[in-house]
Amino acid sequence: MAEVIDGKNVAADVVAKVKALTADLAAKGKGQPGLAVVIVGEDPASQVYVASKSRTAKECGFHSVQHTLPAQTTQADLLKLIGTLNADPAIHGILVQLPLPAQIDAGTVIQAIAPEKDVDGFHFVNVGKLGTGELDTAFVPCTPAGSMLLIERVRGKDLSGLSAVVVGRSNIVGKPMANLLLAANCTVTIAHSRTKDLPALARTADILVAAVGRPEMVRGDWVKPGATVIDVGINRIPAPEKGEGKTRLVGDVAYAEAEKVAGAITPVPGGVGPMTIAMLMANTVVSAYLAAG
Ligand code: GUN
Repeated sequence: MAEVIDGKNVAADVVAKVKALTADLAAKGKGQPGLAVVIVGEDPASQVYVASKSRTAKECGFHSVQHTLPAQTTQADLLKLIGTLNADPAIHGILVQLPLPAQIDAGTVIQAIAPEKDVDGFHFVNVGKLGTGELDTAFVPCTPAGSMLLIERVRGKDLSGLSAVVVGRSNIVGKPMANLLLAANCTVTIAHSRTKDLPALARTADILVAAVGRPEMVRGDWVKPGATVIDVGINRIPAPEKGEGKTRLVGDVAYAEAEKVAGAITPVPGGVGPMTIAMLMANTVVSAYLAAG
């Protein structure tokens, strides 16, 4: 049976470090990290994520501000708020929760965030730094950054020469994940909906990352024996066995099958999910340090 990678535990370690760094900033009289989280509309999943981000920020000792805007907010109004946050010296990190309503162009909004406050790592400046290997000064997107920490926990820091397959090519997870693995000297393949014979490709992976948003798509026989399996998916599916109308969370990996083959695997929930929030806190405290000089 595979080792279960406990994301909650690793995330708690990261949050403890962030708290210590926050206390150190205060002790040096250099102020308090500030995180602004912006949500537009009432998407229930987004509301849960955003509440969790704001709560963890407070727990870390941050100045935590949440802006909840109505679903019909115009792009101009959102850009105005971002301008205000860009100029606010008490704010070191700005996160606009995605997805945004149809009348707002997410790309325009993301590029309006000052790159030095872009703790999501979505601005072209940060994407470019990651792509060119300038990892020391880039803000790296939180989910892939957290996934890398989990991979290093089980495989050590030297991933040189390992074969990695990333299933999914999103800008938020798949592409930055592939870039991080490449920077760590893995041989990386990005697979997607047009990939031919995906199961056979997946079976070549020492490190298999599933980030497609399709419940339990990656089956046990897609997994190379001993592989490290990172499941980024969070999918809510019907669970009639729990009662009428009940649901449960599953990942993009068929866990019960994959755990019999993998060397190590992240559970859902309790794997990658907690890491995303922890890395957001880490990015924000780093931003505050950089601003403090
Ligand atoms: N929606 C889903 N994941 C993310 C994320 O990492 N950042 C933001 N801003 N929105 C998201």
